[in-house]
Amino acid sequence: MAGVVTLRGVCGIVGYVGHRQALDVVLGGLHRMEYRGYDSAGVAMATGGQTLTVERRAGRLANLESAVEATGRDAFAGTAGMGHTRWATHGPPVDRNSHPHRDATGRVAVVHNGIIENFAALRAELEASGVELSSDTDTETTAHLIARAYADGETAGDLPASVRSVCRRLEGAFTLVVTHADQPDLVVAARRSSPLVVGVGEAEMFVASDVAAFIEHTRDAVELGQDQLVVIGRDGYEITDFAGDTAEGKPFTVDWDLSAAEKGGHEYFMLKEIEEQPEALANTLRGHFQDGLVVLDEQRISDQDLRDVDKVFVVACGSAYHSGLVAKYAIEHWCRLPVEVELASEFRYRDPVLDRDTLVVAVSQSGETADTLEAVRHAREQKARVLAVCNTNGAQIPRESDAVLYTHAGPEIGVASTKAFLAQVAANYLVGLALAQARGTKYPDEVAGEFAELEAMSSAVHKTLETLEQVRGLGRRLAESKAVLFLGRHVGYPVALEGALKLKELAYMHAEGFAAGELKHGPIALIEDDLPVVVVMPSPKGRAVLHSKLVSNISEIQARGARTIVIAEEGDDRVRPFADELVEIPAVPTLLQPLVSTVPLQVLAAEIARARGFDVDKPRNLAKSVTVE
Ligand code: F6R
Repeated sequence: MAGVVTLRGVCGIVGYVGHRQALDVVLGGLHRMEYRGYDSAGVAMATGGQTLTVERRAGRLANLESAVEATGRDAFAGTAGMGHTRWATHGPPVDRNSHPHRDATGRVAVVHNGIIENFAALRAELEASGVELSSDTDTETTAHLIARAYADGETAGDLPASVRSVCRRLEGAFTLVVTHADQPDLVVAARRSSPLVVGVGEAEMFVASDVAAFIEHTRDAVELGQDQLVVIGRDGYEITDFAGDTAEGKPFTVDWDLSAAEKGGHEYFMLKEIEEQPEALANTLRGHFQDGLVVLDEQRISDQDLRDVDKVFVVACGSAYHSGLVAKYAIEHWCRLPVEVELASEFRYRDPVLDRDTLVVAVSQSGETADTLEAVRHAREQKARVLAVCNTNGAQIPRESDAVLYTHAGPEIGVASTKAFLAQVAANYLVGLALAQARGTKYPDEVAGEFAELEAMSSAVHKTLETLEQVRGLGRRLAESKAVLFLGRHVGYPVALEGALKLKELAYMHAEGFAAGELKHGPIALIEDDLPVVVVMPSPKGRAVLHSKLVSNISEIQARGARTIVIAEEGDDRVRPFADELVEIPAVPTLLQPLVSTVPLQVLAAEIARARGFDVDKPRNLAKSVTVE
């Protein structure tokens, strides 16, 4: 599959037209994508009747299957259909928000992966014309719009043209798969910035977000390009762009086995998740800056309450805590507000001073971490406002918070946080910008400028990922080390802590992160011949004083025999003489550097762990979500 860029989406999608019972194929495909984890699932089958047969259920796939059995499989009999597993973006994971979504007549059904940014405007337009929406999702709007385009006007009766006309109106990222009861022999799918592949079988065709959905049936696949639409029928497929002109996809043969396919060709989910970080960042930012304003996903407090905030606590655990430490630098700088970052497990056992003007930002990938949840409850008892930064829609922490910002990094299967961490850093920055905007400590054009710089980080991370072969080799060479130290200053300090945590949890190697300035207050006694010390250098163009101080710190440890591994901005020639190994990262704004400097540290830890023979997806003694205090 060399050369094929396989974008990873958040939800799992599969569509089928062929000679078998579509229900069997679709449920089989959903099972193959079960590794993604999901919060609801659904199917829509074209049975030749007046309407489509649809079933959808919150929870695991088994819930959907029980519901299908209860209705009776005969009701779903047909050779075309589609299915979906959801990782919620808009609206909590309940039955009514599960896909497929239908128009009012039940004749059109849509499944969707991605985020439609202008859905609020589309929803308002539909409601103004009398359409009643039955879910909280962005997806449902597309079902109504497609039904309307199919019912009359120049696209009447033409499903592909109707879908194209709606796609042209959508902003954001999407893979859409559409069926219509009138067209039981075809399935239409379209994509923009979300993954979509066609599986080409013998008298059967598939569309899916992921080859894992169909590789037990065919290994011949075609990847769709940006802004393309495909119509599949039993005997073939046809690709056009959104204007309707013929287009070509990129054919390829899948040579992965199923297990590798699930992992995007990687040996471990974590390695795939590291690769997904540019997309996770883009998804986290998507839709959160509209009409010149930073917007949260849910806000149950007034703008005035946000304006009145006079102190911020960030509470979180592990990597999420490190993301908070990074954010402190930005929030204090942008908002001129004091920010304290607390380990959630410590927070309520001391006596933090909180009142209604305190904003507690609870950062949690899972949204279920017991320590963080208890900290949230404690904060609310003290009348503080709580804003959750969470990757899991509808989890307990966002449910109990006054405002929510979802990270949209998608499910993370590797136990060690990677893409979720980067997404948390980005989301915390958004919180900072929202506060700066509310408090007027930044002008609107400054907020827009900071947001644009954040958006550019997706490609900086992509660029970083392309240059990590050196780090992999280094990881293999360090596999026998007894310990590794990590040093950083300013935002590089939490990055050092995160690098050390990754190494501890994945490679079971002793690792410590230090603020470089603290070295001389004790830790320098640890330095001995050949001890690997990873140093996260600030940009020489950012704050020159920080850079100079770190250069001195490195020279001190190098003089004492340490093996220095320096993560530095490309072109940083001053540090070169002090680096036994120099890992270059792209030049980015000072505050945003953690988004690139963390990446080589993740890869380093994973590589050392692999070289030591450990399963990086499931480190010993650890659980993905820690629901006990
Ligand atoms: C480290 C890691 C953990 C989590 C921590 C918080 O790689 O994954 O330290 O960051 O357990 O989990 P969430 O974010 O789910 O609250």
